[in-house]
Amino acid sequence: MSQEQWADVDRYLVDLLVPPDPGLDRALTSSAEASLPAINVAPNQGKLLYLLALACRARTVLEIGTLGGYSTIWLARALPADGHLLSLELDPRHAEVARANIAAAGLSQVAEVVVGAATETLARLVEEGRHDFDLVFIDADKPSTLEYFKRSLQLTHPGSLIVVDNVVRGGKVADAGSDDSSVRGMRRLLDHLAQERRVQSTAVQTVGVKGHDGFVLSVVTSDGSRTLGAPTAG
Ligand code: SAH
Ligand code: DHB
Ligand code: MG
Repeated sequence: MSQEQWADVDRYLVDLLVPPDPGLDRALTSSAEASLPAINVAPNQGKLLYLLALACRARTVLEIGTLGGYSTIWLARALPADGHLLSLELDPRHAEVARANIAAAGLSQVAEVVVGAATETLARLVEEGRHDFDLVFIDADKPSTLEYFKRSLQLTHPGSLIVVDNVVRGGKVADAGSDDSSVRGMRRLLDHLAQERRVQSTAVQTVGVKGHDGFVLSVVTSDGSRTLGAPTAG
């Protein structure tokens, strides 16, 4: 199978199952007009995030890496009217585009973009004693992913879901000798997950319009005191 075929299949599936949405479509066109990189999740992946948020009845979502707000809008659409999404973004220009897209999608009451280095914002959220996030989507600078994951464990509760984007990197993740800092970052995350007792995790490869990549799914099973039915470690 080639990239062209993967993209054909994605278009077929998206045409059938992911109807056009003015808010989401605007987010993509305005991001392109502002010359933001087209590294948003694909439409069917965005809908997967939305379905995961619905399935775990998320009320409070944390996103790390906003870009133009495309994945933000997908996640925010899954929240109840009194739900809340916090999205962390380093680049003020990206945040400005995202805020306009969130407003145009009618989600300003639900979704909030916080500008700054995620490391600092996350430390502040931990200091504030936040541990109410039901779902975390990690999708920012890849070398920092393990740090973001560890912070996410402090900010969630048993039953929370943590999703990490871009863990496969065109297959390079399986190369132990890779000198790509993003690949090394994802391998540090996966090594950690192999021995992290507070979550149950898997990783899944994907192909499609965005090439060959994949994501990690982790469910928080224990905060050290309580445990949700976890069969074994690992
Ligand atoms: N989640 C978006 C794509 C995010 S792209 C979507 O699917 O639509 C990654 C984003 O992370 C970029 O906007 C980049 O500026 C941001 N980023 C990079 N380093 C960061 C950091 N240290 N803290 C917060 N955001 C960061
Ligand atoms: C990159 C980042 C992403 O979040 C993504 O989904 C694809 C690519 C990147 O930095 O190259
Ligand atoms: Mg991504």
